[in-house]
Amino acid sequence: MDLWQLLLTLAVAGSSDAFSGSEATPAFLVRASQSLQILYPVLETNSSGNPKFTKCRSPELETFSCHWTDGANHSLQSPGSVQMFYIRRDIQEWKECPDYVSAGENSCYFNSSYTSVWTPYCIKLTSNGGIVDHKCFSVEDIVQPDPPVGLNWTLLNISLTEIHADILVKWEPPPNTDVKMGWIILEYELHYKELNETQWKMMDPLMVTSVPMYSLRLDKEYEVRVRTRQRNTEKYGKFSEVLLITFPQMNPSACEEDFQFPWFLIIIFGILGLAVTLFLLIFSKQQRKEN
Ligand SMILES: *[C@@H]1O[C@H](CO)[C@@H](O)[C@H](O)[C@H]1NC(C)=O
Ligand SMILES: *[C@@H]1O[C@H](CO)[C@@H](O)[C@H](O)[C@H]1NC(C)=O
Ligand SMILES: *[C@@H]1O[C@H](CO)[C@@H](O)[C@H](O)[C@H]1NC(C)=O
Ligand SMILES: *[C@@H]1O[C@H](CO)[C@@H](O)[C@H](O)[C@H]1NC(C)=O
Ligand SMILES: *[C@@H]1O[C@H](CO)[C@@H](O)[C@H](O)[C@H]1NC(C)=O
Ligand SMILES: *[C@@H]1O[C@H](CO)[C@@H](O)[C@H](O)[C@H]1NC(C)=O
Repeated sequence: MDLWQLLLTLAVAGSSDAFSGSEATPAFLVRASQSLQILYPVLETNSSGNPKFTKCRSPELETFSCHWTDGANHSLQSPGSVQMFYIRRDIQEWKECPDYVSAGENSCYFNSSYTSVWTPYCIKLTSNGGIVDHKCFSVEDIVQPDPPVGLNWTLLNISLTEIHADILVKWEPPPNTDVKMGWIILEYELHYKELNETQWKMMDPLMVTSVPMYSLRLDKEYEVRVRTRQRNTEKYGKFSEVLLITFPQMNPSACEEDFQFPWFLIIIFGILGLAVTLFLLIFSKQQRKEN
């Protein structure tokens, strides 16, 4: 029962999420999806145990894949009884999924030959011949890039007191995205925190692949991660691997003593000074009394 609910929740959340950009669906696709609903009202209203689309994603605007849940009646479905079909404006005919294998189980992969940007798609899922789910979208609305790679940093500067440092964090775009040709324009979001903190802080979106970080403490360790999205869209892809920033210990004992020594002296002198003042006060009072 719990698994059921989880699957359902995932399906609902995933589908409303991944297809939020489908307002611009052209009339013929609207008609297509309306007729789906008219033809299969029963399946539409009682499809609780059936497979459902969870997500469609294009990592780079050149290919995409769609995934669906197993459905609750796992054991009773013979493999292959679930099929996915798609239609798009320039084809105007339902065709079966070109590749059920490359994107893993319960998925359909559209390689670049089957991917057409700016052309709305509708997809439908059938189980034993009946339609159990359908969606419409455009490829540019389902872009979620792969994570940036090669995250690294270099030291820019160390303050004279040897307490703070400025660094430059760098990374590279996801290897599969064609950013050089300007086919896709990415923006990045850098998150950072001290190793011990639980809450990540984030910088404003960046159009470049490097950014300075100022005034990091040399005696602390930091973590940095970056994610990216197509510019002017909402959904980020996954985070890169976390980069751990540890500063080489310059001269730990000397550094610490340099820093603490003055305070120590000031406190000692302070206490001494106070004691002397008190002593002088008391001494002078007593002398006045005796006089
Ligand atoms: C949907 O199907 C399930 C199992 O097949 C059944 O228990 C449930 O009553 C049905 N719900 C509706 C609204 O028909
Ligand atoms: C599961 O399969 C059984 C037998 O085929 C069927 O009666 C039942 O309605 C199915 N349940 C769901 C939730 O699809
Ligand atoms: C896409 O897949 C089909 C077969 O599924 C293949 O014939 C075609 O060459 C592939 N296109 C690319 C660009 O890989
Ligand atoms: C970062 O750069 C340094 C120096 O170029 C290199 O030694 C190190 O392996 C790099 N780290 C990562 C995680 O790539
Ligand atoms: C290093 O930082 C100090 C102050 O912290 C600054 O005066 C100096 O110009 C910086 N040097 C470089 C190379 O940025
Ligand atoms: C993290 O916190 C623990 C205790 O809360 C402390 O012992 C440890 O030194 C801290 N590590 C760093 C890198 O600050």
